[in-house]
Amino acid sequence: MGPLIDKVAKDNHIGHVIDLGAGQGYLSRTMAFQYDLQVMAIDGSEVQTCGAKRFDTMAIKGFKDKEHLIHHVTDLFTPENATDILQSLQQQHTHPSLLICGLHACGDLSTMMLRLFTQQSDIQALVNVGCCYHFLSHQGPSPGFPMSRTLQSFQLGSTACMLACQAPSRWLDQKEASIKAYEHHFFRCLLQWMMIEKGLISATDKAPIIGRLNKKRDFDSFPIYVKAALTRLGMDPNAISSDDAAAQYHHYKHTAQVDKRIAVLWTLRALLGPVIESFILMDRYMYLEETVPPSPTKSVSILPLFDDLVSPRNMVIVATK
Ligand SMILES: C[S@@+](CC[C@H](N)C(=O)[O-])C[C@H]1O[C@@H](n2cnc3c(N)ncnc32)[C@H](O)[C@@H]1O
Repeated sequence: MGPLIDKVAKDNHIGHVIDLGAGQGYLSRTMAFQYDLQVMAIDGSEVQTCGAKRFDTMAIKGFKDKEHLIHHVTDLFTPENATDILQSLQQQHTHPSLLICGLHACGDLSTMMLRLFTQQSDIQALVNVGCCYHFLSHQGPSPGFPMSRTLQSFQLGSTACMLACQAPSRWLDQKEASIKAYEHHFFRCLLQWMMIEKGLISATDKAPIIGRLNKKRDFDSFPIYVKAALTRLGMDPNAISSDDAAAQYHHYKHTAQVDKRIAVLWTLRALLGPVIESFILMDRYMYLEETVPPSPTKSVSILPLFDDLVSPRNMVIVATK
């Protein structure tokens, strides 16, 4: 991403970059120390900013003369405060024109970045790779989806946004982990079924959210998983006995072969992931096309930047005014 930002910046005579959601500052350091861009690295988390500064100290040994090129700020951007924060930062450091960028800027952070780009006259270029579509907001005056007028009448639910984060292209590369994930989906479905059967929940209830379990310890067998999941849900771990869990597992896996049907269903759902992601990205593209006024230097594009086997969120949006 560094070379791409460098090219966009140089082509547009921009020397200053805002890296929003800079995290530990890997991209910020590359832009500053390798490409001599003046970088303001902003992150909402003090822990991330401190980590970034620590890495800067290590990296600076080879780039002593470039220390002044990077500046870290901790600020949590929201749609309400984003413009004010940027303006106050710009008053402290005056810039002629800016490029705003974000690498794996999660959920609404990416859409906020797009809006800042269209609303602030001194931000002349944008380079953005999003991620975590399940954190997108869908309501309010500045929703994360949809942004564009073109897709105004479309809605995506939280399940669809979760699916957009899937990376089916990785399955072949990570065969064992993928097969394990299928088994875990089967565990989850069977648990739900047993909870309904035992009257622990009703079939019409919203599916309970179990949250993260320990991948090694809690998935050792279905009876172990059941206990861990019930505990996590604040229920009696013995509400389903280990014998019962083992018997149901044996029946539904080996006799009814329900696990195979779940695998087919899961595969079909997950294959829709890239389609939904395209939809989200197309919405962002259309928003920029609709909002940035025509000019000889206006350009909006989306292109694959990384190998999607290494980094599934690999599509970058590049725009200039
Ligand atoms: C997935 S990480 C990416 C970090 C970095 N860009 C990288 O690629 O290594 C997203 C970062 O955005 C920050 N972040 C998320 N929402 C934010 C917000 N509203 N304002 C500022 N930072 C935010 C998080 O603290 C986190 O460090």
